[in-house]
Amino acid sequence: MIRASFFFSNMAAGALQLAVALLSLFSAVLSFPLGPETKHTTTCGYESCHATKPNMLNVHLVPHTHDDVGWLKTVDQYFYGDRNDIQHAGVQYILDSVVDQLLKNPDRRFIYVETAFFYRWWKRQSSSAQQTVKQLVNEGRLEFVNGGWCMSDEATTHYSAVIDQMTIGLRFLNETFGACGRPRVAWHIDPFGHAREHASMFAQMGYDGFFFGRLDYQDRMHRMVQKEQELLWRASDSLTPPTADLFTGILPNGYNPPEGFCWDQSCDDPPIRDDPDLEDYNVDDVVMRFLTIANSQATVYKTNHIIMTMGSDFQYENANLWYKNLDKLIHYVNAQQANGSKVNVLYSTPSCYLQELHRANLTWALKTDDFFPYADSAHDFWTGYFTSRPALKRYERISNSNLQTCNQLEVLGGPASRQGPFGEGESQTMKKAMAVAQHHDAVSGTEKQHVANDYARRLANGWQRCQVLVSNSLAALSGSSAKRIYCDNLNISVCPLTESSKKFSVSVYNPLARPVTRPVRLPVNGTAYAVSDANGKAVDCQVSTREVRRNRGFAVNELVFQVQAPPLGYSTYSVSLRQAGPRPASAQPGAPTVIQNKFLRVTFDPDTGLLSSLSNLETKQSIKLTQNFYWYNASDGNNLESNQPSGAYIFRPNSSTPFVISRTAKTETIQVQFPHMVQEVRQWFAPWVSQVVRLHGDSRALELEWTVGPLPIDDGLGKEVITRLDTSIKTSEIFYTDSNGREVLQRKKDFRPTWNLMQSEPIAGNYYPINSRAFIKDDVDQLTVVTDRSQGGGSIHNGSLEIMLHRRLLYDDVRGVAEPLNETSNIFPEGLVVRGRLLLSLDPPSVAADAHRPLAQEVVMQPLLTFTNGDLSPNTRLEFSGLQAALPPAVHLLTLTQWDKDSVLLRLEHQFQSWESKVNSQPVTVNLQKLFSTLDVLGMSELNLSANQWKDEMMRFSWTSLPLTDGPLWLDPSTWEVTLRPMEIRTFLLRVSLR
Ligand SMILES: *[C@@H]1O[C@H](CO)[C@@H](O)[C@H](O)[C@H]1NC(C)=O
Ligand SMILES: *[C@@H]1O[C@H](CO)[C@@H](O)[C@H](O)[C@H]1NC(C)=O
Ligand SMILES: [Zn+2]
Repeated sequence: MIRASFFFSNMAAGALQLAVALLSLFSAVLSFPLGPETKHTTTCGYESCHATKPNMLNVHLVPHTHDDVGWLKTVDQYFYGDRNDIQHAGVQYILDSVVDQLLKNPDRRFIYVETAFFYRWWKRQSSSAQQTVKQLVNEGRLEFVNGGWCMSDEATTHYSAVIDQMTIGLRFLNETFGACGRPRVAWHIDPFGHAREHASMFAQMGYDGFFFGRLDYQDRMHRMVQKEQELLWRASDSLTPPTADLFTGILPNGYNPPEGFCWDQSCDDPPIRDDPDLEDYNVDDVVMRFLTIANSQATVYKTNHIIMTMGSDFQYENANLWYKNLDKLIHYVNAQQANGSKVNVLYSTPSCYLQELHRANLTWALKTDDFFPYADSAHDFWTGYFTSRPALKRYERISNSNLQTCNQLEVLGGPASRQGPFGEGESQTMKKAMAVAQHHDAVSGTEKQHVANDYARRLANGWQRCQVLVSNSLAALSGSSAKRIYCDNLNISVCPLTESSKKFSVSVYNPLARPVTRPVRLPVNGTAYAVSDANGKAVDCQVSTREVRRNRGFAVNELVFQVQAPPLGYSTYSVSLRQAGPRPASAQPGAPTVIQNKFLRVTFDPDTGLLSSLSNLETKQSIKLTQNFYWYNASDGNNLESNQPSGAYIFRPNSSTPFVISRTAKTETIQVQFPHMVQEVRQWFAPWVSQVVRLHGDSRALELEWTVGPLPIDDGLGKEVITRLDTSIKTSEIFYTDSNGREVLQRKKDFRPTWNLMQSEPIAGNYYPINSRAFIKDDVDQLTVVTDRSQGGGSIHNGSLEIMLHRRLLYDDVRGVAEPLNETSNIFPEGLVVRGRLLLSLDPPSVAADAHRPLAQEVVMQPLLTFTNGDLSPNTRLEFSGLQAALPPAVHLLTLTQWDKDSVLLRLEHQFQSWESKVNSQPVTVNLQKLFSTLDVLGMSELNLSANQWKDEMMRFSWTSLPLTDGPLWLDPSTWEVTLRPMEIRTFLLRVSLR
């Protein structure tokens, strides 16, 4: 084993690089004098903090800018300061100006957050400017906080994509600045509510603390009174404390400066006029106002330290305004100490403030739930964005799946995947597009329409480049360089190749670490086909008439067959047109009363055509289940109680009773030749709402494929469309949602775990984000719904679960985006049509997670189909798996991606919570050397979750709350066996070579 040398060579190289860095720093100091008072130090991090005064109230002024990675303008428009007619904002000027101003006074501090912008700026700087910036970073004068590519949304993101975007940003900072570039503090000052899973991830990324700005207004009032705006968040019920413990601070004024102290060019507050010879000398007034604010802020926090965020959206473009006044403020306020003032004000950063809180050695409140939903006043619940822009949300999710496939195939195909018969493939564009899409105005759906289009365009560009890589890799693995064709519009049954070809093959790549079986549905124009698998064996297939798709595509039929794909691998199926065969199955009017396979039985009400019951035939359990579609009439703002309309952010129905779209569904049923393959019932509720109820032969889940839109607005009413499942399950007002696709949280109607809620919006105030699944249960039955994208939902009535699918609104909701959420496009001039799937399963609660955890991962990381036309050359390898064996059911292979020439990044995850499953909530051990079929693992070392720190160097502040149990025991790294405990994600850098 050469592994040990991997470790040591790594550390030795680190030490060497440090020495080189110190040398180059020294020369930098000589050639770039940094101002008269410069101390030539290389102290960054906590050691670079300004001294504070123990017997005074210390006010930490944090100069900062909040730079959205796209919102009213695209990320590139923001960077350059383009389209200032939309919003005056130019990030390049901010960084230019701040660096100049920092050089003028070594006491000054600045924090920078969004690496997507910093990276754009950095690569356009001269090497001497880069040296100057390095010096500022090394002295702690410019400090990175958060440091991900963007500041992710917390409600609508999936953990997989969040970890990836943090990794990209933090890796750039580490590679550019080394240890001094590593952020100590997570900083989510703007996201609209806070997910527990985000806190858990931040803890595992090594952050010492976390600050944010927005929380429910009642929660804030309560915490101010209790002095609990700073707390310890225990963000996992499964990971051993303190693994997922994160110190969390709530900022005093969102992320804005105190009233009257905004000195940006975008503000109108009076500057400090300190010439006593001039008329409007105002120093006394400024000092007095400041002392009043500081002393009052101190009454709602626990220590003799308080923080003030001196900046806001896109501020500091002309940083001189801010710094000149801040210098004076500090000078004049502190001058009062000579007259007995007990207030000490200083330039600071969030980490310096955090260090003082840590030193205070207090006992902090403990929190174990999350910060959803967020309301900023009684009728203003930010629960609409859980669903806003459902097509973008789905595209983002599918892009994540495609990116993971692209990453895996880059590793498995080796160097040939980057340069091959199809040109130069690369995954960087897609990685960055996905990273940008995690921003809190991207996948959240709270951006302007042209910006949403820009995010989608970036994802499409990224995917095009990944396609080259995927084609190259599959060519290398299969030995066939036949041209690969992609059908990205299969979701609307469009694929020109399958619609016209007489003979083609389809390869199914499965990015999961265990085999999957799933049906493939292809649009075709023939009536009979023969399908064979990788071993040449005939596969049952069925042709049926296509459902109505409003004249999109040209196929008249659909070919369905079942495929199986091995773990981290592909299987290839051949399809050829036959001269004759059975007539395509056609739809017969009317619903059957029942469809069933060996696991599930589904009944329909003969009068209404609606679903009426669901039974699990294995466990012999059965529930009443009625499903229908409804719409809430969006508030238009003309209301006695409040003038708040529904909009991109806010959900505010005009009435708590939604309109039913139709009491009955017009239905038809597909007659099947192979009932063990698929049975389908098609339902129409309105010209703009239809659904296919599908039961696949070997599936334990019932599929509801909904199609909603264009939502009619000619009646002048905004609409928020839901589907509601009403069941006989006795839920006592409780339901469950996942947090960013990982741990599950309990939700109770009109209830918040840490304060007495005064409920003022009976529907919107009971909505929560659903990222991948939600469920309702009683002692006997659990109905789980797996979603294919993030959506909002609630359980308003006992036994009921509703999910919001689509929204179309006519008014802006006055939170800044200044556009009504009314999506139209060239293809959808009458309004956006959206299609998606819900997967329903019914199980006893004690085993439900065993079914829905893997099911949800299958939807998140779905197989990728690639096509080749005509015959394949005889030597083509038709099946391949990158693993020696499937991983155990509890283990999810979260990440496999090329890191540098010789090493790959691997994340293995235990995907069960500790209490969830008798069989699966046990620790599992995996041998890293026996993992891959085509890679030799030569060396390995463990990293933190975001891969910017070696695990054994990871040290975090410890905090006192309730008594803590012992920390987790990390396995001896001298073994290849790694053990994963419930909900644990472990990150490894593996040095590998292709066999
Ligand atoms: C923190 O406080 C505890 C008592 O609550 C004390 O035992 C401990 O020594 C203190 N630690 C420091 C570093 O002051
Ligand atoms: C961080 O970057 C330094 C070089 O700047 C490198 O030596 C070190 O290995 C990196 N750390 C990680 C965890 O990649
Ligand atoms: Zn923002």
